Amino acid sequence: MSARVDWIARPAPRAVQGETAVPGDKSVSHRAVMLAGIAEGVSHVHGFLEGEDTRATARIMQQLGVRMETPEPGQRIVHGVGLRGLRGSDAPLDCGNAGTGMRLLAGLLAGQAFDSTLVGDASLSRRPMRRVSDPLQQMGATIETQEGGLPPLIVRGGRTLHGIDYQPPMASAQVKSAVLLAGLYAEGETVVREVHPTRDYTERMLAAFGWPVEMAPGYVRLRGGGMLVGGEVVVPGDFSSAAFPLLAAAIVPGSQLRLRAVGLNPRRTGLLAVLRLMGADIRVLDTREVAGEALADLEIRHAPLRGIDVPVEHVSDMIDEFPALFVAAACAEGVTRVRGAAELRVKESDRIDAMARGLRALGVTVDETPDGADIVGRGTAGLTGGQIDSHGDHRIAMSFAVAAARATGDVRILDCAAVDTSFPGFVTQAGRWGLDLRASETR
Ligand code: S3P
Repeated sequence: MSARVDWIARPAPRAVQGETAVPGDKSVSHRAVMLAGIAEGVSHVHGFLEGEDTRATARIMQQLGVRMETPEPGQRIVHGVGLRGLRGSDAPLDCGNAGTGMRLLAGLLAGQAFDSTLVGDASLSRRPMRRVSDPLQQMGATIETQEGGLPPLIVRGGRTLHGIDYQPPMASAQVKSAVLLAGLYAEGETVVREVHPTRDYTERMLAAFGWPVEMAPGYVRLRGGGMLVGGEVVVPGDFSSAAFPLLAAAIVPGSQLRLRAVGLNPRRTGLLAVLRLMGADIRVLDTREVAGEALADLEIRHAPLRGIDVPVEHVSDMIDEFPALFVAAACAEGVTRVRGAAELRVKESDRIDAMARGLRALGVTVDETPDGADIVGRGTAGLTGGQIDSHGDHRIAMSFAVAAARATGDVRILDCAAVDTSFPGFVTQAGRWGLDLRASETR
């Protein structure tokens, strides 16, 4: 991401209409190449997200000795090396912008015979890593962080790991997954307990690859020392990417849009429930199950939105969708209150702060709290034009690109190159939905 890209987004010239598909799920794509890499035999990954985050993880697995073919974009053939078959690399392992990549790999690498260094870009280098290094050290790993628990991470090899019974202090699928992946290499039993359930792709994919995993409400349990067997992985459309066309159709009058084959894992779809509480008209059509994951088409028609108190029980099921929700709230009638979402402050940017500042620049009144915000919707008045700093955060950039559809003037969005981490081709896609968005300059 060397080039700097800014965007100019204009008020929507027409309603959002048509039918569209979104890129493959980022969470599933990361896990697919990691688990396929340490499985026995060959795996075929279909619908792999060709984003920078997931390609960085694929590159790292290759750097560790896993042969991978790309017969066409979105496809990977992964020649697994088995649980003990990875080879160390003298060069640092570059996770780019990806917190998921770095945290899950820390768990995977904690049980290897060799040392590894995990590095990331400027944004990732500011993100907290003690949440994974602490439990991994309790398992017997040696992980060195920089001052303040920040990356780079040095993961020492040759340690004997033992299982732990762990309850992360925050709701985090990344922490849960890091501990479970280290648990594959640990002696005895590893248990991760959760008060608020988080996305369960790691445990489900481990089970699909033949590892015995006990999944029950509130905990996941596995034993170390087994074997993964490669197979087919079908990656669903990413609900978090679908959130942007959904938002566009929700806020632009006259819209009607159908989104094809979106993953509807219940741990991801909090935004659906919350938008419906706000009055959105969303239909779930043609629900089917593909490789154990629920998929459906979503059809959304514009309807006026009203402000609500976002129920706290939905927070972890929509943790990546708050930037989009903030925009929906800004376009609603009345106040929307978000609480219990302090984790937003340690995402690719401080998303409470970035969204509050950005919305204020478009004429919206927002009061921040430590774990949320009150957003005073402008209803039919819409937003003003203005300039937004995305802080290099893909979801902030995409949220404001959509928000501009309801603005009365142009919205200039700075620093948008990171959108390629999760949604390559966003600008072109947005044009197809009916938005007026272009990349303004590259320098
Ligand atoms: C992810 C978990 C979430 C989410 C991130 C992807 C995952 O992070 O925000 O985009 O794939 O496990 P946390 O575990 O920090 O909540």
